[in-house]
Amino acid sequence: MTTIRIVGTGSCLPKQVVTNDDLAKIMDTSDEWISSRTGIRERHLVINETTAEMSAEAAEQALLEAGMKAEELDLIILGTVSGDHVTPSTACEVQSKIGAVNAVAFDINAACSGFMFAMNTAYAYIQSGIYQNALIIGAETLSKIMDWTDRSTCVLFGDGAGAAVVKADETGLIRFVQNSDGAKGMVLACQNRLNNNPLVENSKDLHYVDMDGQEVYKFAVSTVPASINQVLEEAGLAVSDIKYFLLHQANMRIIQSVAKRLKADPDKFPTTLEHYANTSAASVPILLDEVNKKGMLQKGDKLVLAGFGGGLTWSAAVLEW
Ligand code: ACO
Repeated sequence: MTTIRIVGTGSCLPKQVVTNDDLAKIMDTSDEWISSRTGIRERHLVINETTAEMSAEAAEQALLEAGMKAEELDLIILGTVSGDHVTPSTACEVQSKIGAVNAVAFDINAACSGFMFAMNTAYAYIQSGIYQNALIIGAETLSKIMDWTDRSTCVLFGDGAGAAVVKADETGLIRFVQNSDGAKGMVLACQNRLNNNPLVENSKDLHYVDMDGQEVYKFAVSTVPASINQVLEEAGLAVSDIKYFLLHQANMRIIQSVAKRLKADPDKFPTTLEHYANTSAASVPILLDEVNKKGMLQKGDKLVLAGFGGGLTWSAAVLEW
């Protein structure tokens, strides 16, 4: 049966690195507090870069590895909660920047699961025969929706983009699961503009990411191992069959807890969060690109990818490289 295979990856981080010590100079925090609770030591933050520019750079790298021209793309799906415009979508901006004139492009809002949902959606289109290939992207400029006076959230996040090109093939994505629970959505939220018209008076306050960290932690350490176990069972595979588990990079403690609950070797969980912090939808494709570029993947390796976050949303997928 037709599935999708990843044939190219790419990533882009903004140039400016901001360490925990840099943050400690502008707010009441410390490298010790941040790194001991999260594993994060530094993050990249935009100055002039945009979500669309970083996405386009990651996309060009993925196309190069895939040996494809942008004109050959059928579909561009981009997961983000921090696009540059409400409209046009960031995916349409990327289409224009890379010259993917024959593609249809749209964004998906599934927060930190955005790349996973983009991949699963591409699968549905390609498996059904509607399209033959897709560019899937996760990209965020989260720093612009952070409250930089709220030390409990702003230290956790960073900016960046990751991309992959997928094509119809006989092997590749083996199985995925995806879920959402809107009833718990407000534990990790960011208000958009408030109602604003001649009938409504409201303040012009800007709104920022607001998170109940402990609730998010509880959600992550229960749903992520459960969804990975489910996808492995449905695929007829065991934890021991998996070469790497590429998890959304939110917090080192979450990753360690998932490894423990799965009874998996922690060395099978490569990380980037020490250097990039939590880049939401971008974290899984950035990690995948790093693992790929380091030559850590051989044809036939089995990988688990898993994302979880705002919505609430979560997804796990098992694939053959
Ligand atoms: N620096 C110093 N002190 C801080 C900071 C900071 N940056 N932030 C909070 N504190 C203080 C608090 O004010 C509090 O002080 P108090 O006891 O005097 O009131 C104390 O540290 C403890 O605060 P808690 O919020 O209870 O800290 P906790 O141990 O729960 O750790 C954390 C917070 C790291 C966010 C944790 O809840 C966690 O890992 N949650 C998971 C959430 C997560 O990773 N979210 C990422 C985004 S969501 C996603 O990607 C899915």
